[in-house]
Amino acid sequence: MFINIRVTIILMVKIINVGLIGLGTIGSGVVEILKNNSHSIEKRTKINLKGVCDLNEQLAKRLNLDEKIFTKDYKDLINNKDIEVIIELIGGYEPAHTIIIEAIRAKKHIITANKAVLAKYGYEIFEEAQKNNVNILFEAAVGGCIPIIKTIEETYSSDNIEKIYGILNGTTNYILTRMSEGMSYEDALKKAQELGFAEADPGFDVEGKDASQKLSILASLAFDAKIEQEILTEGITKITKKDIEYAKEMGYVIKLLAIGKKQNGIIELRTHPTMIPQNHIFASINDEVNAILFSGKNIGEIFLSGKGAGKLPTASVIVTDIIGAGSRTGITERHFEKAEIVDMGKIKSRYYLRFSAVDKPSVLAQISKILGDNSISIAAALQKEVNKDVVPIVIITHEVLEENLAKAVKECNNLDVIKEEIVIIRIEDLR
Ligand code: HSE
Repeated sequence: MFINIRVTIILMVKIINVGLIGLGTIGSGVVEILKNNSHSIEKRTKINLKGVCDLNEQLAKRLNLDEKIFTKDYKDLINNKDIEVIIELIGGYEPAHTIIIEAIRAKKHIITANKAVLAKYGYEIFEEAQKNNVNILFEAAVGGCIPIIKTIEETYSSDNIEKIYGILNGTTNYILTRMSEGMSYEDALKKAQELGFAEADPGFDVEGKDASQKLSILASLAFDAKIEQEILTEGITKITKKDIEYAKEMGYVIKLLAIGKKQNGIIELRTHPTMIPQNHIFASINDEVNAILFSGKNIGEIFLSGKGAGKLPTASVIVTDIIGAGSRTGITERHFEKAEIVDMGKIKSRYYLRFSAVDKPSVLAQISKILGDNSISIAAALQKEVNKDVVPIVIITHEVLEENLAKAVKECNNLDVIKEEIVIIRIEDLR
C-alpha cells in the first residue's frame, strides 16, 4: 500500500513597511519601481509603502499615490509605529540630518542616497545607529547603481585597500563627454539637468564637491578612517573645449577624478580635473557613467563601472537596499580611526598649464624663468598659432611639488603679459 504524501513548501516572504521622504527625481523613481517591478520584488520581500512625505503634494498626485499615505510632515512617518524603514531622499544637509537622527532614535532603519549628509554627519549617524541597533544602508549614495559600498564593506573587508581612483560624478562626466564632441559647457550642463543627473544646486557637481563627498565616504570605509579635514577639490568650470582638444593632441583625455591613497598610514585625498592616457580604461567611461578602480594588498586591482546618476539606476539600488533591510540580521558595526591626511603642498604630480599670453618677444622666456626659479622642469611646450593678440601657450611639466607649482603659477598670473587666469590640470599617468 502506497501512501501519497505531498509536501508543500511555503516560502516565508518577509513583509517590510517603509516610509519615503522626498519625491524628487530619485524618490519618484522608487515609487515607479515599486509599482512596476512588484512581481520580481515580491519573490524576495513584500514592500508596503506605508507613508510618503514631501512638501509638494502635486508630486504625490502625479504619481497616483493614495492620499491616505501622503503627508507634508515627516514626523507623521517617524511616529508611525508600523514603519520599520525610513528612506531619506531629500538630499542636502538640513533637514535631512535632523530627520535621519530622529528616525534612528525612533528605531527605524535608514536608507539614503544622500552623500552630502553622510560626508558631513556620517560618523554621528553611524554612532547613533549603532546605539539604537538599526542599520544605515546607502549603496545609492556613491556611484549610482555601482555596488561599491557592499563591495568594499563586505566582499573585500579582509584586505587593506591602498588606492582608489573614481569617476564619481555623472553630471561632470556627461558635460566633459559632450564638450569633447563640440557642445558648449552651458548646453551640456543644461542637458545634464534635464536628464535628472545634476544636484538641485549643480554647483555641487561642477565644482567637484559632490565627487569629494563621495570620495570622503569611500575613503572612510576603505581606509577605516575618520576624515574630518577638507579634501582638495577643484571642479571643471575652468576647463574649455580648447583644453580638451590640446589634451587629445597630446594623447590624453580629461576626466574629473577623485583620488584616495593610503601609504604608511598617511592618507592622500583629492578631486580635480585630471589628464589620463587615452588608452586607459577610464578614458572610455563616457556620459553619466561612473567608474571606480581600487586596489588592495591581496586582491590586486578591481574595476567597477555603471550608471552613476539618473532616476531609475539610482532608485533601483535603493529598492535593493529595502529588500536588504528586510532580510538583514544583525547590525553593521563600523569603526573609524583618526586619520593623518597628507599636506597637499607636499604631493607630487605632472601638470598641464595653459597660459593666455600676449604674443610678443620674451613671453616664453619670462614664464620659463619663473618655472625654473621654482624648480619646475618643463617636459613639453606648445604655442598655438592663432591670429589674435592673446595666444594659448601650453606647458607640460615633469613631476613637481604642488607647493612649488602653486607659487610659480601665482607669480606667472601677476605677469603683465598673462591675460587670463592660468588653467592647471594635473596629469596621472595611469596604466
Ligand atoms: N549629481 C550626481 C551626479 C547624482 O551627477 O553624479 C548622483 O549622485
